[in-house]
Amino acid sequence: MKKIALFYGTYTGITGIVAEKIVKELGEENVDLYNISKDGERMNDYDMLIIGTSTWSIGELQEDWDAFMPKLQEMDFNGKTVALFGTGDQVGYPDTFLDGMGMLYETFQYRGAKFVGFWPTSGYDFTSPLPLLDHDHFVGLAIDEDNQPELTDERVHKWCTMIKPAFGLK
Ligand SMILES: Cc1cc2nc3c(=O)[nH]c(=O)nc-3n(C[C@H](O)[C@H](O)[C@H](O)COP(=O)(O)O)c2cc1C
Repeated sequence: MKKIALFYGTYTGITGIVAEKIVKELGEENVDLYNISKDGERMNDYDMLIIGTSTWSIGELQEDWDAFMPKLQEMDFNGKTVALFGTGDQVGYPDTFLDGMGMLYETFQYRGAKFVGFWPTSGYDFTSPLPLLDHDHFVGLAIDEDNQPELTDERVHKWCTMIKPAFGLK
């Protein structure tokens, strides 16, 4: 079994595509990839987690994550390292941009997780407070494939370089 697991939830596939980019950056030999719609319980088997979600219905968590919430709320993440990423649309939904990522942050934080991979807010234009760690940082990587697809690869690359040491990778 590999040491890192990436769990993602997607509706139209965008978060899954970003998840695959992250796995490629970190090395396929290092990361097990799971869709939260199927294998959520496997989260208990790992100490290093990457967690990705989109946001739907104006501020709602992606539906597979939503369905998994009751189980997530019973898990213990003390001693576990978690890096979050979210996909959303800052132009169409500025007030709820990446709210899903913010919701997962709250849940994992309450259950004891230690976070890595906070991401600067410069270069984005939105008003949602939920995905923010502080004024200058998101709680995780922010991806907007709807409006800034040309920036995705570079953002993923930089973020992966940033989280590698915390996940024991060079
Ligand atoms: C009806 C609808 C509602 C949406 N609501 C939000 C939202 O509240 N916040 C946000 O950041 N993005 C919102 N989005 C954009 C999606 O989250 C974005 O396209 C995302 O990348 C989709 O990822 P997925 O295909 O992995 O689910 C919405 C899109 C649609 C069509």
